[in-house]
Amino acid sequence: MPQIFNDNNNLSSPLRGTGGILAIESSCDETSAAICRDGKILSNIIAGQKVHEQYGGVVPELASRAHIQNIIPVVDAALQIANCKLEMLDAIAFTQSPGLIGSLLVGSQFAKSLALSLNKPLIAVHHMQAHVLANLIDDPKPSFPFLCLTVSGGHTQIVLCESPTKMKVIGETIDDAAGEAFDKTAKLLGLPYPGGPLIDKYANDGDPNRFQFPEPQIPGLDFSFSGLKTSILYFLQNAGMSHIYKEKFLATEAEKEKFIKENINDLCASVQQRIVSILLNKLKKASVETGIKDICIAGGVSANSSLRKSFETMGHQYKWNTFIPAFQYCTDNAAMIAITAYFKFLEQQFSDLSVSASARSGLTFEV
Ligand code: KG4
Ligand code: ZN
Repeated sequence: MPQIFNDNNNLSSPLRGTGGILAIESSCDETSAAICRDGKILSNIIAGQKVHEQYGGVVPELASRAHIQNIIPVVDAALQIANCKLEMLDAIAFTQSPGLIGSLLVGSQFAKSLALSLNKPLIAVHHMQAHVLANLIDDPKPSFPFLCLTVSGGHTQIVLCESPTKMKVIGETIDDAAGEAFDKTAKLLGLPYPGGPLIDKYANDGDPNRFQFPEPQIPGLDFSFSGLKTSILYFLQNAGMSHIYKEKFLATEAEKEKFIKENINDLCASVQQRIVSILLNKLKKASVETGIKDICIAGGVSANSSLRKSFETMGHQYKWNTFIPAFQYCTDNAAMIAITAYFKFLEQQFSDLSVSASARSGLTFEV
């Protein structure tokens, strides 16, 4: 993480106020702004983008355009709800990486312009660090060191957190992320993007033991989801008759559609159960290896009802202290950027105006 100091970090500036930190999140398809004062979230506004639904995934160019349209009203609303004025702010924070570069650029340029014009310190935040720290927004909070399973649309990581600003990725996916596994399965089932919440909904009425999908054998604390996706693809192409690849598939397109339609609830429940078991088996292993029993989940997939429930059950079984962010802090939101910025503010980790948004952050975000 860049930790560069310059003239812009003038905390004794006459403009230094008591309004707290304004944070902006724009890494993917949610434009969000939040205000955090003294470690408390006063507002958290999120504008989603429905435009992508018809395309089966986020269209980067459309996302950037929507961020440009949304950012001013979203920031205005966050300030208004927190009863805060721009000149009262102590710092401006933004998501620097990782994400879609066009989307990140809208938020980062906006934040930098505000910081420059108001002469406020600028705080660059790592999106995955922020997902983890969403667990420090509300009480009860985990004690350090804790483990966090961070599961989003682009990442699947087990993170060992020694302090809000010192954390290490100890396991991660070697291919697809857990959110991608949900979204790609949904696509194969003919469901719109984002498919995760829909699979969760259908699974609610389904039998999770009806269909068996394989659990990959990956060494250590790493994950893999691409084999599961392929297995589901072949299973559907054979209308449930086999997982085995055949040059000539057994089912016609009509048979496949009929099979999906008649079994959608059980298919969703079975796939969901396998994704959850892959995630939690590795988390259990991480707890055994590290001896840590304060354990959190975070990221968009932590909104999944089966993961939340199974995590709590496992926690009870192994005597863990379990923590899950409030629902609104699981999927992308600026409150998690704001709380991360608050901890960076306390350590005076400010950024130079030359800091640039970055689509990739490398495989890890050890800070
Ligand atoms: O953290 P997030 O909002 O954005 C990223 O940083 O990627 O995560 C988005 C991911 C998507 O893949 C979405 O399908 C998944 O979280 N997701 C869910 C649920 N809600 C969101 N997956 C399963 N069940 C849910 N209820
Ligand atoms: Zn995210």
